[in-house]
Amino acid sequence: MRFVSAATLVSLASLVQAAPANHANTHAHPRVAAHGGGAKFQSGIFYVNWAIYGRQHFVTDLPADKLTKVNYGFANVNNSTGEVVLTDEWADVQFPYPGDVATNGTQLLGNFNQLYKLKQKNRNLKVILSVGGWSFRANFKPALATAAGRQRFCESSLTLVADLGLDGVDIDWEYPEDATDAENFVDTVQRCRKHFDEYSALNANAYHLEIGISAPAGPQWYSIMPVKEMDPYVDNWNLMAFDYQGPGFSNYTGHLSNVYASKTNPKSTNGWDSEKQEFTPFNTKQAVDFYKANVASPSKIQLGMPLYGRAFANVVDLSKDGRGMGQKFNGSGDGTWEPGTLDYKLLPQNGSKVFTDKEVLASWSWDAKRKQLVSFDTPKVAAWKADYLKKENLGGAWWWESSGDLEITSNKSLVSTVVQQLGGVKNFQQSLNNLYYPQSKYDNIRGAASNSTAGPRR
Ligand SMILES: *[C@@H]1O[C@H](CO)[C@@H](O)[C@H](O)[C@H]1NC(C)=O
Ligand SMILES: *[C@@H]1O[C@H](CO)[C@@H](O)[C@H](O)[C@H]1NC(C)=O
Ligand SMILES: *[C@@H]1O[C@H](CO)[C@@H](O)[C@H](O)[C@H]1NC(C)=O
Ligand SMILES: *[C@@H]1O[C@H](CO)[C@@H](O)[C@H](O)[C@H]1NC(C)=O
Ligand SMILES: *[C@@H]1O[C@H](CO)[C@@H](O)[C@H](O)[C@H]1NC(C)=O
Ligand SMILES: *[C@@H]1O[C@H](CO)[C@@H](O)[C@H](O)[C@H]1NC(C)=O
Ligand SMILES: *[C@@H]1O[C@H](CO)[C@@H](O)[C@H](O)[C@H]1NC(C)=O
Ligand SMILES: *[C@@H]1O[C@H](CO)[C@@H](O)[C@H](O)[C@H]1NC(C)=O
Repeated sequence: MRFVSAATLVSLASLVQAAPANHANTHAHPRVAAHGGGAKFQSGIFYVNWAIYGRQHFVTDLPADKLTKVNYGFANVNNSTGEVVLTDEWADVQFPYPGDVATNGTQLLGNFNQLYKLKQKNRNLKVILSVGGWSFRANFKPALATAAGRQRFCESSLTLVADLGLDGVDIDWEYPEDATDAENFVDTVQRCRKHFDEYSALNANAYHLEIGISAPAGPQWYSIMPVKEMDPYVDNWNLMAFDYQGPGFSNYTGHLSNVYASKTNPKSTNGWDSEKQEFTPFNTKQAVDFYKANVASPSKIQLGMPLYGRAFANVVDLSKDGRGMGQKFNGSGDGTWEPGTLDYKLLPQNGSKVFTDKEVLASWSWDAKRKQLVSFDTPKVAAWKADYLKKENLGGAWWWESSGDLEITSNKSLVSTVVQQLGGVKNFQQSLNNLYYPQSKYDNIRGAASNSTAGPRR
């Protein structure tokens, strides 16, 4: 049985405190074909561990019942040993949430403890540790250059999974840049798959720990990714379908996350290729086409969407339509946490007009007085993207990052808009998370498993 109905899940939740039975978690069968009810979607979101500071955004703020996955960013990788390590132990495992009592490390506290609690309450929610990201991008090449480094990468990430009560890892290497990197990446996911499966066979009733890849959408990077070779070991290709254009890396005002190329205003969707010294199209469609041609099923591709906007300053608008798009600019505009990047929940800014381009599936705001243009997705565009991903039979949506959205109860929340457009929670893929971590070094995580009435025998 691949699918578990919502009603079944509720009763299972009380019965199975621990590892779900094998049958619910094999991933051998493409889910779209198997279910009479049609496509079943994933809904993932990035939670970043620095959100507990300035953003004052906590794990307990996540709209858990509208999600099937939380990607937790970020862990780092040691560039000499390959060891995967937490980057902020205070936020990750120590920070006391209301009711938590510090215990000198015997109990898991912090964000990961709250995520485990969310998993207990939402058995269809998985928590994935994301390793890398932009800040730590330089560490992968040296870390994964040797077999010993790759082995250590897999072993140490599994140790974190087993200690912290997680359901898998996401590898966010931005980006493999040559054939050697590509080969090392394939070997890494192959090793991790084997290592994870061996652990699960012994400790988690053969629960399928996920391996995801934060996948580049820019042609200069995905063309180097050995997607086809990695695919047998990868569960989810989390397409980073944003940052096509932005201040700091674009020549003209352009779209952050357009689905199609623009024929009427090519400057708005073309980016500068510094290798070839020419303009090249950036858009989701060409990336999706590439990944679809190289993976076993389009349902393994998850479409990333932004919960932020990119703000261009000092736009010289010579356009006929006076909408600021595809024009020269100078510098980064307003920012919430850094110049040029605005949280979606603050958009559109006062004094600006919002425009939508149906040709490319994108929107922006234009403040003619302040000469500032912000590229961001409105709810309308987000809904179009949901339709697009359905049409392409993709596996679902995910967002960067959770603190940027409006309250989930707002009718302008992008997460809520997309979930609705995908048919609501009833159209979510159903796949039990794991709660059984007998090897955890934390008493509460290990202990939760010993409370099980239906846990696996060891
Ligand atoms: C990487 O690991 C080595 C060996 O354990 C250690 O000396 C070094 O400090 C680590 N690097 C970082 C950045 O933690
Ligand atoms: C590894 O990281 C350290 C500390 O961040 C840095 O000084 C060193 O140059 C890096 N080594 C390599 C091979 O990238
Ligand atoms: C934590 O460690 C300190 C110092 O060893 C000790 O005084 C304290 O009682 C410990 N607290 C708990 C909750 O174990
Ligand atoms: C585009 O911008 C890049 C720097 O970001 C610059 O090197 C390049 O010359 C620019 N191209 C054109 C045609 O202006
Ligand atoms: C862009 O802005 C910078 C700093 O404000 C200024 O020095 C520079 O002259 C401007 N460039 C153009 C082409 O206007
Ligand atoms: C934008 O305008 C609204 C209503 O006019 C006002 O309530 C709000 O404070 C303004 N926001 C900002 C950031 O100026
Ligand atoms: C969204 O909510 C606002 C107020 O909360 C309401 O005025 C508006 O009509 C709603 N829009 C839709 C499409 O439901
Ligand atoms: C195990 O169950 C008991 C009784 O329901 C509860 O008091 C205890 O907190 C649970 N232990 C853990 C680690 O969840």
